[in-house]
Amino acid sequence: MEYVELGRATSPRGELVLRERRAERGPGVVELRANGVYVMDSAETGTEQALAATALALVEEPREVLVGGLGLGFTMHAVLADARVHRCTVVEIEPALVGWMRDGTVPHGPGFLADRRLRLVVADVGQALAEAGAASYDLVLLDVDNGPGNLVHTANASLYDVPFLRIVRHVLRPGGVAVVWSAARAPGLEQAMGQVFDTTEERALDVRLQGRAEQYWLYVARVTSKG
Ligand SMILES: C[S@@+](CC[C@H](N)C(=O)[O-])C[C@H]1O[C@@H](n2cnc3c(N)ncnc32)[C@H](O)[C@@H]1O
Repeated sequence: MEYVELGRATSPRGELVLRERRAERGPGVVELRANGVYVMDSAETGTEQALAATALALVEEPREVLVGGLGLGFTMHAVLADARVHRCTVVEIEPALVGWMRDGTVPHGPGFLADRRLRLVVADVGQALAEAGAASYDLVLLDVDNGPGNLVHTANASLYDVPFLRIVRHVLRPGGVAVVWSAARAPGLEQAMGQVFDTTEERALDVRLQGRAEQYWLYVARVTSKG
């Protein structure tokens, strides 16, 4: 296995590295790491896409969608594949990653970003949602970290807690849905969502990681009423 570095940047959160993994056979795989911790790669993106598919299936008219965390763009791409979506706002905290997606350092990046319905915002999703108006979105999808039990950035802990989840509820329209991705089962998150939303549900996602069978998790919450 050979690794070729495609990009390296530092930000207030530390070091971000983009590299390509090359095996003897098959296409190269783009891998994102933050402070030496694996974040994701372009080989196994089924659960990133399932995050979008799960949410889109639950709402009749998902016109306004917010995705927290650009990553390598697979959730966003799955959202934009749905013609019912009028606008997809993606909030990403790392400006270097947005640059690598825009300039082709991530080879599929420019193609994924070429959609007039996309609004890409460089910000902390906590800040961006606090500034959003009430009832702005039909769907809020959050995949900004590896889940509350496996944080890459400790500052993201608040994004899995009641005060921020109340903000998520505030920006959702009645009938809206929030879905949070987690690498491990997160009963505390389910409980916190249960305090804030009208219904909450945990869903397991089967995934094969380098030949191993694993499970990732989605936490799905609905707003059925105002307030
Ligand atoms: C696991 S990746 C998202 C993967 C994405 N779902 C996809 O399909 O490629 C997490 C992303 O969230 C970003 N991120 C981390 N903390 C954030 C925050 N507080 N606000 C916005 N983006 C954040 C990371 O820089 C990274 O790009």
